[in-house]
Amino acid sequence: MFNKKKFIALGLTGLMAATLSVSSLAKVTLKLSHNNNKSHPVHISMQNMADEVKELTNGEVIIRIYPDSTLGNQRESMELIQSGSLDMAKSNASELEAFEPLYGAFNVPYLFKDTEHYYKALLDPEIGGKILASTEGKGFIGLTYYDAGSRSFYAKKPIRSPEDLKGLKVRVQPSPSALEMTKLMGASPTPLAFGELYTALQQGVVDAAENNPTALTLMRHGEVTKFFSEDEHTIIPDVLLISEKSWAKLTPEQQQAVKLAAAHSMMTHKDLWVKMTDEEVKKAKETLGVEFVKVDKQPFVEAVKPMHDKALADPVIGPYVQKIDALR
Ligand code: GCU
Repeated sequence: MFNKKKFIALGLTGLMAATLSVSSLAKVTLKLSHNNNKSHPVHISMQNMADEVKELTNGEVIIRIYPDSTLGNQRESMELIQSGSLDMAKSNASELEAFEPLYGAFNVPYLFKDTEHYYKALLDPEIGGKILASTEGKGFIGLTYYDAGSRSFYAKKPIRSPEDLKGLKVRVQPSPSALEMTKLMGASPTPLAFGELYTALQQGVVDAAENNPTALTLMRHGEVTKFFSEDEHTIIPDVLLISEKSWAKLTPEQQQAVKLAAAHSMMTHKDLWVKMTDEEVKKAKETLGVEFVKVDKQPFVEAVKPMHDKALADPVIGPYVQKIDALR
């Protein structure tokens, strides 16, 4: 017998199923914000990731990258991500420490012995993997890491020992670890967004900064600071993030494609980073006349040793720092 109610109910279910499959096939565009420029190796690696995602999803998922802080600086981008108004962002462990203390495990000075040790920790599911997943429920999750080299001080004069930092105003990222490190080394830390740093250095609002050498050429800091002192105090990874709201919009297959492409791009970036930083160092020396100063790291290591001891005993990051130490 014809059952009108059942017919309507079935019809509705069918309609819902059809709508669902149409919406899952519909194109998703994800906006990705970051603060480096288009020639930066991390931008290039993220573009490779976006190209692979497009290919793996047959054009269903498009990642559109907005460089140069056009959608906001790193902090603003993170806030937009948390409120669900932005899909993706590239930040780094230093800035992320304010959003999830676990990222602080990477920010302990002189933690990593070398690049190999650093990659071991990032790729370890119990260290790098858990930290990326740790923000579930906070509005975003981490997808992968990108090598951002080691960070050193640069200024209008060489910094050969912590003595040379005395009385200097040093721009740092807005991160508790960066502030503490700079104070222990004897300088006055000034937190500023990356995009404001060129003018701050030029106008003498700060005397020095610290970063990898690409900042000299790609952010033009080498025009206003001529000495890059290779104390290599930290090796802090860049981190690619996606909002949980945008993640939930993707089908399980699309999520898989994003994860896979992100992991591939981290590994192709490894070699690209080395090749491109060598080129930028050469440009900084030859076209901007920046002098790269070799320094004895030991006095810097000693100045910040209390941070390592404190980190080991910390209830949150301690277990991670211990694991990282064990991989040395
Ligand atoms: C690195 C990193 C940037 C970061 C910058 C900074 O260059 O790639 O994302 O913002 O350091 O010092 O702020």
